[in-house]
Amino acid sequence: MSESTHIIFRRKPNGLPISEDFELVRSPTPAVADGQFLVENLYLSLDPYVRMLMDGETWTFRGAGLTPGQVMPGRCVGVVRESRHPAYAAGQHLVGHFGWQTHAVQDEAAVEFYVPPQSGVPLSAWLGACGATGLTAWLGLQTIGEPRPGETVVVSAAAGSVGSAAGQLARAWGCRVIGIAGGDEKCRLVTEEFGFDAACDYKRPDFARDLRDQTPDGVDVYFDNVGGAMLDEILARMNPGGRIPVCGVLSQYNLASEFPGLRNTRLIFDKRLRMQGYLVTEGRHLWPRARAELEAMVAAGKLNYRETVAEGLPAAPGAFIRMLQGGNIGKQLVRVAP
Ligand SMILES: NC(=O)c1ccc[n+]([C@@H]2O[C@H](COP(=O)([O-])OP(=O)(O)OC[C@H]3O[C@@H](n4cnc5c(N)ncnc54)[C@H](OP(=O)(O)O)[C@@H]3O)[C@@H](O)[C@H]2O)c1
Repeated sequence: MSESTHIIFRRKPNGLPISEDFELVRSPTPAVADGQFLVENLYLSLDPYVRMLMDGETWTFRGAGLTPGQVMPGRCVGVVRESRHPAYAAGQHLVGHFGWQTHAVQDEAAVEFYVPPQSGVPLSAWLGACGATGLTAWLGLQTIGEPRPGETVVVSAAAGSVGSAAGQLARAWGCRVIGIAGGDEKCRLVTEEFGFDAACDYKRPDFARDLRDQTPDGVDVYFDNVGGAMLDEILARMNPGGRIPVCGVLSQYNLASEFPGLRNTRLIFDKRLRMQGYLVTEGRHLWPRARAELEAMVAAGKLNYRETVAEGLPAAPGAFIRMLQGGNIGKQLVRVAP
């Protein structure tokens, strides 16, 4: 019987996770029953939302927090190795919630979509630019940000996977785009490789002034990946009628104590701002349209993306912890199988 390797959730972290919060286990791969298939994971996506699940119950995911002993959850690109389900055939590539493990016996509930066989897009990109993070960028901008040509769009975590896609989409749709990222190297990448009009380093003491200088006409859309103090800063720069898709709250995932709260909430009223959280999974009806646009842009070299790839499943916890501290550029992946 073949063996699978899994990374298990061991315990709730106190602040930033540490390697002892995870455990690597091996077990025989279960047999495939009727209606199931065996998938071998090729790439695993590491995503900040998983840190929220490690805290237990969350509003965001309707209470679906992790309990000790569960396999860590994550999207993967995998290849079907054996199937007893009529819709899935051996050799097919799928994107789905197959978890932090080398192999998984799954049914169709775990599958998000088939990888188109002749797409010309590298497999890993179906987890990033053409997958969940690209779709997240597209949905937040299209359905909440609604940027109009000539408007100013600010994107936080701009060197990351969602942020880099959001900025390039907004630019392709005719906006002036300013990215916020941590450090010189990431800011250079944001302008030189992702083509944003300007970048601000939020770790610099002069960040608020830099942001003011780069947004002389104010901000019409703030694509918020971060929340917290940065959101407060940008509320002060928003133009009346501005829109804020709240994509994530990276500044708060690892807080060991409660966030003290925002100061500038009054400005939401004063400027009649629209601020709305959303989940990519709630916009599934728009995925085919979004994916077609993203795939065409990637294939035409009009949507650049970067990947930080950790080698081998045992490297997943360390790569996840580094990503939460800004150690990644672009999409953080794990190459699970060569
Ligand atoms: N709404 C949805 O359905 C949905 C779906 C996918 C992802 N998301 C959200 O989208 C955001 C980006 O996710 P991603 O997968 O693309 O990750 P990512 O941006 O590739 O990686 C995380 C980045 O966050 C930045 N960061 C970490 N702590 C920060 C802090 N305290 N303040 C500011 N920046 C911080 C780091 O970059 P720096 O070095 O620049 O700090 C790090 O590289 C996250 O909030 C995630 O939860 C939402």
